[in-house]
Amino acid sequence: MPLPAQAAQGPIQPGLYASRDGDSPVILKILQNWAPAVSHYFDKEHYTYAGQHIVIQESIEHYGAVVWPGALALSQYLESNQERFNLKDKKVLEIGAGTGLVSIVASILGAYVTATDLPEVLENLSFNISRNTHHMNVHKPEVRKLVWGESLNEDFPLSTYHYDFILASDVVYHHTALDALLATMVYFCQPGTVLLWANKFRFSTDYEFLEQLSNIFDTSILAEFPESNVKLLKATVREN
Ligand SMILES: C[S@@+](CC[C@H](N)C(=O)[O-])C[C@H]1O[C@@H](n2cnc3c(N)ncnc32)[C@H](O)[C@@H]1O
Repeated sequence: MPLPAQAAQGPIQPGLYASRDGDSPVILKILQNWAPAVSHYFDKEHYTYAGQHIVIQESIEHYGAVVWPGALALSQYLESNQERFNLKDKKVLEIGAGTGLVSIVASILGAYVTATDLPEVLENLSFNISRNTHHMNVHKPEVRKLVWGESLNEDFPLSTYHYDFILASDVVYHHTALDALLATMVYFCQPGTVLLWANKFRFSTDYEFLEQLSNIFDTSILAEFPESNVKLLKATVREN
C-alpha cells in the first residue's frame, strides 16, 4: 500500500544506511558502528495549529510514526471549526493516534485527551505529546495502549469512560483489523458522543468501511479535501 513521503520506499533496516556515489544508484552499506536504539528517528515536521508551533518527531519504524494526510485534515478542521465543535474541557479519545498531531491540537484547543495506539507506537507518541504540551497550560494528555477490539471492557469500562469525541485519522487502510476497528468505534460511540473520522480514500475497502459505518451510525460528510482525497466524516449514534 502507498505510504507517505519518505516511508514510500520501505523501511531501511537497522544497521543499514543509504549513500549515493556520483550517478550510481542508492546502495545500502553496513554501518559498522551502529548501536541499537529504541527508535530510529529520521525527521521532524513543523506545524502551526491553533496559534501554536508543533514539532512532530517522525520515524521510519512504523506506519504510526509518520503524519498521514488525514491527520492534517482533521487538525485543520478542528482549528477552523472551534465554535461548531468546541473541545474546551471535553473528553476526547483518539484511536490510532500515530505521531499524536491530532491529539496535540485537541489538547491545545482545551480538551482532556487520551491518545491511544499499538504498544510499539506509544514511545514516539508520548514523546511528541509531551514535548508539545508540557510547557502549556492545558489538561495533561494521557497516552494509553488501545489495540482495536481487544480488552475494551477491561481497560475502558463504559461505567467509567464516556467520551464526548472520538477522533480518528487515516485508521482505514489496507489492513486486517477493519472489523475490530469498527467494533471499537461502536463500543466508544455512545449517545452524546461525536466521532470525527478523517481518511484518505484509496481502496474499495475504504468505501466499504464507510458504508458499514453508515449502516450503523448517523453519518455526514463535514469536509472534503480534494487535493489529498481526504474526506472528513461525523458519526453519531442513530436516533431512532
Ligand atoms: C496510517 S496510520 C495513521 C496515524 C495517524 N492517525 C495519522 O493520521 O497520522 C494508522 C494508525 O493506526 C494504528 N493501528 C493500526 N492497527 C491498529 C490496531 N489493531 N489497534 C490499534 N491501532 C492500530 C497504527 O499503529 C497507526 O498509528
